[in-house]
Amino acid sequence: GGRVLIAPSILSADFANLERDLHRIANADWAHVDVMDYHFVPNLTLGLPVVEALQRVSPIPLDCHLMIEDPDRWAPAYAEAGAHSVTFHIEAARDPRTLAKDLHAAGAQACMALKPGTPFAPYEELLDVVDMVLVMTVEPGFGGQSFMADQMPKVREVREAIGRRGGQIRIEVDGGVAASTIEQCAAAGADVFVAGSAVYGAEDAAAAVEELRGLAQA
Ligand code: DX5
Ligand code: ZN
Repeated sequence: GGRVLIAPSILSADFANLERDLHRIANADWAHVDVMDYHFVPNLTLGLPVVEALQRVSPIPLDCHLMIEDPDRWAPAYAEAGAHSVTFHIEAARDPRTLAKDLHAAGAQACMALKPGTPFAPYEELLDVVDMVLVMTVEPGFGGQSFMADQMPKVREVREAIGRRGGQIRIEVDGGVAASTIEQCAAAGADVFVAGSAVYGAEDAAAAVEELRGLAQA
């Protein structure tokens, strides 16, 4: 396949030192930014003003994962803020096709995310309009949870659907991705790897990024 992308999640960074911690992962491809609203998930992190500030100082593109209600209303502003990619949850979107077009019009890539309990098949037609599919490998809401290997068949299903249709759509995995789990994700067809605790929990975050990259592209 093509080049694999490593996207450390700053959910596991020091929120009092986000600029410093973005620079610790400057060798990564994207910085994954988890936006939570206390409604779609039982946690709250940061929102648009912080993303705008991160955009000003980040050495690498921002990959914004919106775990929020009503993404149709709120997501395009993250694209306007300069995010490289904006991910909305399909469970929360009312009109995902229009939302993806709105994100493109605002200059970002559009990604749809699926919670572990959400099947892919009903949404296959949306491969027409999204640039990436995020298959969650934990229940969204918190870092540091255990990887759900039972999501690998879904990753394979998405990869097969992309293969049938042609095109350049990426598959991102998020949750419990670490040196011990990343190879099975890559084997199933994922090519974008989010890792929070596995990167920021390491002594040397940049070295952890390189280790994950090596394992994913092997
Ligand atoms: C969870 C977030 C993840 C989280 C992953 O809801 O979407 O991005 O930061 O953290 P780890 O890699 O520690 O599971
Ligand atoms: Zn995430």
